[in-house]
Amino acid sequence: MATAFLLVGLPAAGKTSRARVLERERPALRLTTDAWVLRLFGGANPAPERDVVEGLLLTTGLRAAALGVDVVLDFGFWSRDERDALRHVFGAAGVSCVVEHLVVEADVQRGRVARRWRERPQDTFPISDDELVEWRASFEAPDESELAGGPVPAPPAGQTWADWASGRWPGFDPTVGTFPRVTQDTPERV
Ligand SMILES: Nc1ncnc2c1ncn2[C@@H]1O[C@H](COP(=O)(O)OP(=O)(O)O)[C@@H](O)[C@H]1O
Ligand SMILES: [Mg+2]
Repeated sequence: MATAFLLVGLPAAGKTSRARVLERERPALRLTTDAWVLRLFGGANPAPERDVVEGLLLTTGLRAAALGVDVVLDFGFWSRDERDALRHVFGAAGVSCVVEHLVVEADVQRGRVARRWRERPQDTFPISDDELVEWRASFEAPDESELAGGPVPAPPAGQTWADWASGRWPGFDPTVGTFPRVTQDTPERV
């Protein structure tokens, strides 16, 4: 059974550093949204396109995990629903999820963000102090149950977690987790 690591944390918390360690140690397929968005959009960070990139990376990651490869999702996952949806969808494909929370204090974070921008501008987006404050306020830290791999709560009323996830991330196809399961009754898809 493969493992998918969901790396949770604010900018400069150390997610990509941790992802690089897991990538070597497991080994695992590392999927880092920022790296793709930076190269695709030349340093801009357009929100709708970012969601599509994440969706495509999730399709790739879920498929790889269903095929037995460990995967690191280096996304940030600031909202609880995002993590619950993926824990459910990956779990349904027989993949166990590990939620890891990288924590950084505000003053340390400001220092790291400034330094990264100074030293390696090609590896990051410009981030203002106001954004750091706003993002910290909106961040939903994972609780003990999530970190321990506890039960996934029910999805929002009237939806499945798979529906929720493909709405949140256009380009994410949750069915790749269970495809192909060809039996005598189900003709092979082309
Ligand atoms: N545990 C740590 N202690 C000190 N510096 C760290 C630590 N983790 C990351 N850093 C530094 O902080 C900066 C941001 O780390 P990074 O892994 O890119 O964060 P994220 O991917 O969460 O934005 C980098 O310059 C990195 O070297
Ligand atoms: Mg990063």
